[in-house]
Amino acid sequence: MSKISLKPYNDYCPQTLFLYGTYNEDGKPDFGLFCWFSYIWDGEMGVMCCIGGNKLTKENILRDKVFSANLVTEELLPVADYLGCVSGNNPDKMKISLDIGKGEVLNVPVLNNSPVNFELEVTDVIKKKDGDVMLCKIRNVLQDESLSSDETAYQKLSRIAPVKTTVKHYFGYDGRDMGAWGEPMKSL
Ligand SMILES: Cc1cc2nc3c(=O)[nH]c(=O)nc-3n(C[C@H](O)[C@H](O)[C@H](O)COP(=O)(O)O)c2cc1C
Repeated sequence: MSKISLKPYNDYCPQTLFLYGTYNEDGKPDFGLFCWFSYIWDGEMGVMCCIGGNKLTKENILRDKVFSANLVTEELLPVADYLGCVSGNNPDKMKISLDIGKGEVLNVPVLNNSPVNFELEVTDVIKKKDGDVMLCKIRNVLQDESLSSDETAYQKLSRIAPVKTTVKHYFGYDGRDMGAWGEPMKSL
């Protein structure tokens, strides 16, 4: 395989998408879309993520040190795309139809239509010039009870259909191109 060298970038490295849920200072929920999310080990499984620049999600997490991470599925994609393209500084952002519940263990808003919700507590914040890296304890995982069925892992994943992103496009679980960032929200 012959290679070319490129400046730092992550094209062709698909990432799983999550909607982070936080409460604003006035107690109202905010959701934003994120993909810089992965796992760490420290005696038990934890989460690491990075939020760049200034975002309402980041402001809320740095204040309360808790948030939810809700797996994005094909069903949720139009709303997820919207929540990733519209800033929380827009006062009308959350005036859309969302089925919002509460965490079982932490005071975090969760999306009831997402099959996996992590309830996360931030233990370490590594401040960089224009981004914050956060290490988190997983305090609870809320999982759709139908994922405990006897189906194979492939059948379950095909059914819940998590969405991935790379090259500024969304891809379905079976690899289908589901549009560029900013496109799925047009169907709302
Ligand atoms: C597909 C996609 C993935 C994103 N992933 C991240 C991410 O991992 N980190 C980040 O800082 N911003 C990410 N963003 C940008 C935020 O979702 C966006 O700034 C959003 O408006 C934040 O909402 P908020 O202002 O309510 O927090 C992503 C956006 C899209 C469309």
